[in-house]
Amino acid sequence: MTCEVILSYASPHRCLVPRHGRFVSVWMSPDMPDILGYSILHRTSYMVYPDFASHPASYIPHYTGMRFYFTLYTKPYRMYTLGINAAFHDSSACIIENGKLIAAAEEERFTQIKHGKRPIPFSAYELPFHSIDYCLKMAGIHLNDVDHVAYSFDPYLLLGDHKGKAEIPIPLEPDMLSEPSKWTSPWDPLFLSSIVNASGQLVDGYPHHLQKRFKGVSKDRIKWHFVEHHIAHAASAYYPSPFDHAAILTLDGRGELATTTYNLGKGDEMSRIGQVDMPHSLGLLYERVTSYLGFLHSSDEYKVMALASYGKPVFASDFREMIQVGSNGQYTITNERLEERFGASRSKNDPFTAHHFNIARSLQVVLEETVLKLASWLHKQTGEENLCLAGGVALNCVLNARIRDYGPFKNIWVQPASGDAGTALGAAIWVDLQENESVARSYEMSHAFWGPEYKDDEIETFLKWAKVPYKKMKNIAEETAEILADNKIIGWFQGRMEFGPRALGSRSILASPIHPSMQARLNEVKDREDFRPVAPVVLEEDAPHWFEHATSSPFMLFVYDVKKDKALKIPAVRHVDGTARIQTVNKDQHPRYYELLQAFKKKTGVPVLVNTSFNTLGKPIVCSPRDAVECFWSSPFDALVIGSYLIEKPHAN
Ligand SMILES: [Fe+2]
Repeated sequence: MTCEVILSYASPHRCLVPRHGRFVSVWMSPDMPDILGYSILHRTSYMVYPDFASHPASYIPHYTGMRFYFTLYTKPYRMYTLGINAAFHDSSACIIENGKLIAAAEEERFTQIKHGKRPIPFSAYELPFHSIDYCLKMAGIHLNDVDHVAYSFDPYLLLGDHKGKAEIPIPLEPDMLSEPSKWTSPWDPLFLSSIVNASGQLVDGYPHHLQKRFKGVSKDRIKWHFVEHHIAHAASAYYPSPFDHAAILTLDGRGELATTTYNLGKGDEMSRIGQVDMPHSLGLLYERVTSYLGFLHSSDEYKVMALASYGKPVFASDFREMIQVGSNGQYTITNERLEERFGASRSKNDPFTAHHFNIARSLQVVLEETVLKLASWLHKQTGEENLCLAGGVALNCVLNARIRDYGPFKNIWVQPASGDAGTALGAAIWVDLQENESVARSYEMSHAFWGPEYKDDEIETFLKWAKVPYKKMKNIAEETAEILADNKIIGWFQGRMEFGPRALGSRSILASPIHPSMQARLNEVKDREDFRPVAPVVLEEDAPHWFEHATSSPFMLFVYDVKKDKALKIPAVRHVDGTARIQTVNKDQHPRYYELLQAFKKKTGVPVLVNTSFNTLGKPIVCSPRDAVECFWSSPFDALVIGSYLIEKPHAN
C-alpha cells in the first residue's frame, strides 16, 4: 500500500505511519541499517520494510519534517527461539515462533537410546541434534534463521572463581590429585566446560547426515542464552498452564544449585520467592533409594512408585529422621545410611520381597508428607489458589494426587514433560518472553502432541518398500474396536508423537481392560516386571462415572480411585491399591483416539481401554513407522494399526 510518512522533528529515528486507519509510531532500528528495518513499537508483531532500501539509514534525518510517499510492505515478523535441554539427560529440543510452540521432541525417540544419554559429566557436551533438526524442519527454517537459543542450564552459576577466565583445569587422573578438590565432583570442570562451549558444539558438531539445516552457521550468529535450570522448570509449569496467576513449585534431583524452588507467576511475570539448594534434594534421595532397590537411578523412579503400592510404611520413621522440614520452606536431608538402616541393597536380578515393598512405601509416604508441608508453606506465602508443578518429582502421580486431595490449593496443573525434557520448553518460553517485546504470553498446553507425524502416503511407501503385508482400513475406529473387543493387543501409531514420558494415544499399545489377565499379558508382551500396573484411557465425559471425582486429566499425572461398582468391569487397569493412573481424552485432543474409545464403548459398554507405551523393556517409545514395525514384529502383539493401515500376524487372524 502507498503510505504518507511524516518524519518526526522530536526524534529523527521515529516516524508515523498510517496503519489500519490509525497512525502508529515506527522506529527505524539503528542496528539494522542494511535492510533499513523498522519495527513497530507497542507490541505489534510486524516488521515494516520501506521500498527506498537504497538510501542508507543515515540519510533519513535529512528528511526530517518533510512529507513524502512510499510503498509500505509489511510481512509478519517471526522470532524463532530454539529451546535445548542437554546438560544431564532426557535431552530434548523445541521451537517457538512468536510465543507459539511449533514442535517439541526428545532425542531418545530418534536415536532409540533411552533418555538420550546418561546424566554424567562425560556426556554433557552431547546436543540433541536429531530433535533440533526435527524442530527446524517443522518450522521450515535453517539454524541460521533461529533468533535465540535457550539452553536450560546456566554453568556460570557454578563456575565460581573461574568465571570469566580463559581456562579451567580438568584433571586427567583425579585419583592422583594431591590436594582435595573444591568441586562437588572432580569432573565438574569437564561438565561445565562442555556446557559453556555448547554453542560451538551446535554449529560445529552436527552429524553429517543432518547438515542440511545446520551447515554454514557462524557461532557469532547465535544469540545464546543460558537459563537457570529451575527457572526453566518453573516456566514450563506456569506459562503453558491454564492459569493467569499461580504459585509454582519445582522439585527435581538438582539444577545448578537449587533442588527445590518456590515461585509466583502473575500474567507475564514470574518471580522466585525461595529455594532449597544442594546437597538437600528430595529428588536425589528418591534416586538413591531407586539404586538401593536394584533399579537404574535417573530412569526407573516410577518403578519404585509402583512398588510402593505393595508395601507398608514400616520404615516411615527412618525417612522422617532423614528428611527434616524447617522454616521458610527449607528442608535438610541427612543421615541416609540406607544399607545401615535397611540392610544390603538389592541387586538387579534379586527377587523382590516384602522388605523392598516396605522401603518403597515408606519413602513414598514420607515424600508425600514432606511435599504437602512445602506446598502449604508456598500457599501461605502466595495466597494463591492455583498451583503449577514441574521437575522430575512431579512425575510421581501418587504424590500429585495427594497434593490434589489434601493440599491447600484449589487447582493444580502439572507440566506433562516434568522431567528435564520439559526444561527445553520452559527455557524457550522464558527467553521468548524476555526478548520478544511484541509477544505476550499466549500458549496454553492442552495436549502433548508436538512430535513427528507420518502421513498415510509415507507410511504406505514404507510398508511397500519393507514388503510388510497390510490392508487399508475403511473405518479405523470400528475395525480397531472389533479387534480390541476380541481381546487382542494392538500397537497404535497415530498422529504426532507425544512430548514427555507418557504415551497418550499417538504411540501406544492398546488392549481391552475387561479381562483380569490383561495386565499380566501386557507385562509379558512388553517383557517387563510383573508388579508394573497398566493404565487406563477413558472418554473425558465418562471419566466421573468410572473413577472417583475424576475430571479432565489428559496427561496421566494423577491417580484416581476406581469406582467400586465399576471395579469388576475394568480389572486389568485397577492397581493393587484400588487406584488407576488415568488419561482422559476428548475429541479436540486426539480425534481418532477419541473415536476409537467411542467405538469400543458401543461394542462393549466400557468407555475405557488399557493404554501403555509403545515400546519394550529398556527401549524408548517408538517414533517412526520403521520403529513401530520393528517393535511389532519382534514382540508378541497381535496387530498394528498404523495410520489407516492394519497389519496382523498370521496366528492372530
Ligand atoms: Fe531438572
